[in-house]
Amino acid sequence: MKSFPVTLGGHPLWRMSNWIQRCLIERVLLRRLNQRVYLILGGHIFFQTLSAAVELDLFSILQRHKQMTREQIAKTLNCAEQPIRILLLGCTTLGLLRKRGQSYSNTMLSRTLLVRSSARNIVDVVRWQHHINYRAMSHFADAIRANSNVGLEEFRGTEDTLYERLAHDEWREQIFQDAMESISVQANAMLVRRLNLRGAKFLLDVGGGNGTNIIAFARRFPNLRAAVFDSASVCEIARKNIAKVEVSDRLSACPGNCFSDPFPKEVDTILFAHFMTIWSETRNRQLLRKCFDALPTGGSVIIFNMMQWDSEDGPPAAAMGSPYFLTIATGEGMLYTWHEYRQWMRDAGFRSIESQPLPRDHGLIIGRKL
Ligand SMILES: C[S@@+](CC[C@H](N)C(=O)[O-])C[C@H]1O[C@@H](n2cnc3c(N)ncnc32)[C@H](O)[C@@H]1O
Repeated sequence: MKSFPVTLGGHPLWRMSNWIQRCLIERVLLRRLNQRVYLILGGHIFFQTLSAAVELDLFSILQRHKQMTREQIAKTLNCAEQPIRILLLGCTTLGLLRKRGQSYSNTMLSRTLLVRSSARNIVDVVRWQHHINYRAMSHFADAIRANSNVGLEEFRGTEDTLYERLAHDEWREQIFQDAMESISVQANAMLVRRLNLRGAKFLLDVGGGNGTNIIAFARRFPNLRAAVFDSASVCEIARKNIAKVEVSDRLSACPGNCFSDPFPKEVDTILFAHFMTIWSETRNRQLLRKCFDALPTGGSVIIFNMMQWDSEDGPPAAAMGSPYFLTIATGEGMLYTWHEYRQWMRDAGFRSIESQPLPRDHGLIIGRKL
C-alpha cells in the first residue's frame, strides 16, 4: 500500500502554525503570570498606593470635580507634582483611576468603594488595614512558628488579644470600631433579611456588640425577645442603643464571658454572628456543647460568618482574614469551612442541620436540638 510522503503533522506549514500558536499562548500566559507575580511581590506597595490615596481623600475629591489634571490634583491636595505623579501612576495601573489625555477620573470600582459618599464605600476598612493590621502582619512568619499572635507586640499592653489591647489606644480603637461597623452593617442587614426567627421566643446574640442585630430582629419579628451577651463595657453601648428604639421593652443586654458565665435560662435560640472565627476549634466545640446543654428541646443554634470553601482553596476573603486572626487578633482563630462547623454542631448533639450560602462569601448554619 502506498504511503503518503509526509504526514499532516510533519508538514512544514503545519509545524510553523503550531509554533506560532505556542508562541502566542506562551506570550499571553506569561504576561498574565508576570502580572500576577507583580501583584503579589508588590502587594505591600500597591496596598500603600491605595491607602495613601484614601488618606488624601483623592477619590472623593475627584468625584466632586468629575475629572482633573495632575496639576489641579497636586494643587488641591497641596502637594508637589512629582509625588502626585507617582501616586497617579499607581492608581491608574491598578484600575482605581482612568487617564484620558491629561485628565484623571474615578473608575466604577473607586466610585463605588472608595468615595466617602458612596453607600458601599470601604474607606474605614482600608484605614483599619493600614493603621492596625499593616505593621503587625509583618510578623506572620513568626506567628506561624510560634502558633500565636506575635503581631500583638506592635500594640501597647500585656493582654492576650487585640480587642483588649486596643483599649489603651483610643484613636486606633475608634478606627477599629468604624471598620467593624462598616463590615457588619451590610452583612448583618443580610442576616436579618435571610434568617427566619418566626418560631423563636428568646434570642441570645453571643458577642452581639452594640445591639444592632437584636434591634433589627425585634422589629422584624413582633413576638421575639432578645438579648446581647457581651462584655460589660460593650453591653453598656448596647443598652444605650436599645433605650433609643421603639422595641426596647423586648430587648436587653446581659454582661458576661461566654466561656465562663452561664447563658440566661429562658433562651431558646442562640446566635453567633462573626464570632467563631475569633476562636480555636477547641473553644468553638466547647461553646456549641454549652449551647446544647443550655437550650430546651426544639431550640436552635445559629452560626453566621464568612465561610471557607470545603475544598480549602478559597475564597480570597478567607485567605485574607485567616492570617489576621492568627497573627494579630487572638492567635487562635481563622475562617473555618462549612464542613467543620456542621461537624462541630453534629458532635455537640445538634440535628436537622441546614446550611444556607449567602452573598459576600457569607453563610448561615442552623442546628436544632431535637
Ligand atoms: C467581631 S465582633 C462581632 C460583633 C457582632 N456579632 C457582629 O456580627 O457585628 C466580636 C464581639 O464579641 C465580643 N466578645 C469577645 N470575646 C467575648 C467573650 N468571651 N464573651 C462574650 N463576648 C465576647 C466582643 O466584645 C465583640 O463585641
